[in-house]
Amino acid sequence: EVIDGAGRILLPGLVDIHTHLREPGREDTETVATGSAAAALGGFTAVFAMANTDPVADSAVVTDHVWQRGQEIGLVDVHPVGAITVGLKGKQLTEMASMANGKARVRMFSDDGVCVENPLVMRRALEYARGLGVLIAQHAEEPRLTVGAVAHEGPTAARLGLTGWPRAAEEAIVARDALLARDSGYRVHICHASTAGTVELVKWAKAQGINITAEVTPHHLLLDDSRLETYDAVNKVNPPLREQSDVQALRSALAAGIIDCVATDHAPHAAQDKCCGFAHARPGMLGLQTSLSIIAEVMVKPGLLTWRDVARVMSERPAEIVQLTDQGRPIAVGEPANLALVNPDAEWAVKSDEFASLSTNNPFEGMVLPATVDLTMLRGRITAREGTVFPL
Ligand code: DOR
Ligand code: ZN
Ligand code: ZN
Repeated sequence: EVIDGAGRILLPGLVDIHTHLREPGREDTETVATGSAAAALGGFTAVFAMANTDPVADSAVVTDHVWQRGQEIGLVDVHPVGAITVGLKGKQLTEMASMANGKARVRMFSDDGVCVENPLVMRRALEYARGLGVLIAQHAEEPRLTVGAVAHEGPTAARLGLTGWPRAAEEAIVARDALLARDSGYRVHICHASTAGTVELVKWAKAQGINITAEVTPHHLLLDDSRLETYDAVNKVNPPLREQSDVQALRSALAAGIIDCVATDHAPHAAQDKCCGFAHARPGMLGLQTSLSIIAEVMVKPGLLTWRDVARVMSERPAEIVQLTDQGRPIAVGEPANLALVNPDAEWAVKSDEFASLSTNNPFEGMVLPATVDLTMLRGRITAREGTVFPL
């Protein structure tokens, strides 16, 4: 078959280094199968599944299961992320080597949704990771500053009576781990940068020659905390939606390369876990099927990034950060390709009941967004086309 790409943008398959699937443990909200389908429809050929599952992905039993399921489904490569510590809020380091040398060949370890509070534990994790050549990805939250916090600490939260999550809770850890990376001579990756101060710290650290990278989510690039007026928990996320000045700083930083890449932080939740008041709802929102369109809206439309740059921030850079050599590369003639064919001129209205995801929690409902994914290909095989997925 000859595929006509007239008027289309050809991107290398997108790589999401921050996805929450809920297998094992909460298969009622997302499985490797449904998350893979959402990813393929969103133009992705690889996703990194975060470790805060139940049980936590703190052993090769869990990470190998997730990898295996992903390969059976065959829609995207599902790379499991290992936990840095054993169990939720653990203090003991996991056996990273057994996960790294397992079937899944785990290449990233994170405390996302798990939180390493003790700096000495993080210091030892960086040393261990250096020996193995794997990546430490930092959730960037000082939990002692976010006790009870549900929204960005600022005028909006104060007016609405919501307990604030200060910028300092994020920036303190970004600074801490930039300095730990400096001293260990090893790199650290900052998840979901959300404040202007984090941008300044990452810029400073890079200028010092510290080996640091950072990601930003589509929702932190699109939305600010004025969304909270309605108390709709669909807007509750960690880190929280910040102020418009932060949003502008994040956009500029992504355009300037201070922030390296986009990552979705796709976080499915059941309706019953998103209800019953802003304070009680779980944090997180879907992202896999909307991220490319949101980047088109906030970065391409205003001229902050070209489509060539989108290939960089959504495929090439994330693949480099996790040292994936089979993704995020220009497509050579005759090589089985990982690619996404995008119609930049199409528009679509977000309807979450049409998502492949098992959950519907997203703040983009009803928005009309630019750009659709016509087709996604993994190693030369079509995995998604015009809204239909083709699992193995
Ligand atoms: O909003 C979030 N949701 N932030 C996290 O760190 C965890 C995630 C989740 O697992 O739902
Ligand atoms: Zn996180
Ligand atoms: Zn996350």
